[in-house]
Amino acid sequence: MSKVHLVDHPLVQHKLTLMRKKEASTNSFRRLLNELAMLMTYEVTRDVPMQEVQIETPLEPMTARMIDGKKLVFVSILRAGTGILDGMLSVVPGARVGHIGLYRDPKTLTAVEYYFKMPQDMNERDVVVVDPMLATGNSAIAAVERLKELRPKSIKFVCLLTCPEGVAAMTAAHPDVPIYTAAIDRELDEHGYIRPGLGDAGDRIFGTK
Ligand code: URA
Repeated sequence: MSKVHLVDHPLVQHKLTLMRKKEASTNSFRRLLNELAMLMTYEVTRDVPMQEVQIETPLEPMTARMIDGKKLVFVSILRAGTGILDGMLSVVPGARVGHIGLYRDPKTLTAVEYYFKMPQDMNERDVVVVDPMLATGNSAIAAVERLKELRPKSIKFVCLLTCPEGVAAMTAAHPDVPIYTAAIDRELDEHGYIRPGLGDAGDRIFGTK
């Protein structure tokens, strides 16, 4: 069973509530997403490998610890995942970025791949897959399946919102992939939307509706 990390920090919950409001403008939705992405990155990087480096403070030399950011890859599931990247990269600027283009067939709700571009040497990297909404789970499951072909060292999945159906589907398909989310909402509706949710994340990020 995938481990689900519910990021229940007051700052995360506060910002998520503001994002859910239907009157939130595109501008404020994006800004809040950016801030939330930074906070989620704080949690998802909690156990990343560190290396020791020799530095000198103004007073003396010391051995200190740093993250090797280049070993991390943030993989955005297009298009809504892109909205999370800026915030993540502002706290881990050395991370590499991959993109997976998947669209949801409106009739079957299954994921269809149209784009896949990853950095080199994926087998030496730790991957964090990002998509704001883990709804049916179809896109996330397909993305992780594709990434596993490249044998990365580890894979984690980060979203803002999910629902019991999304968690169950992801867990069944990829029990080894931990899920980081700010909330698990009540349910998935018949159109594949999370309820109460926040609507269509892509449309709200890009102002396309
Ligand atoms: N994708 C979204 O953007 N919103 C949902 O509620 C479900 C999937």
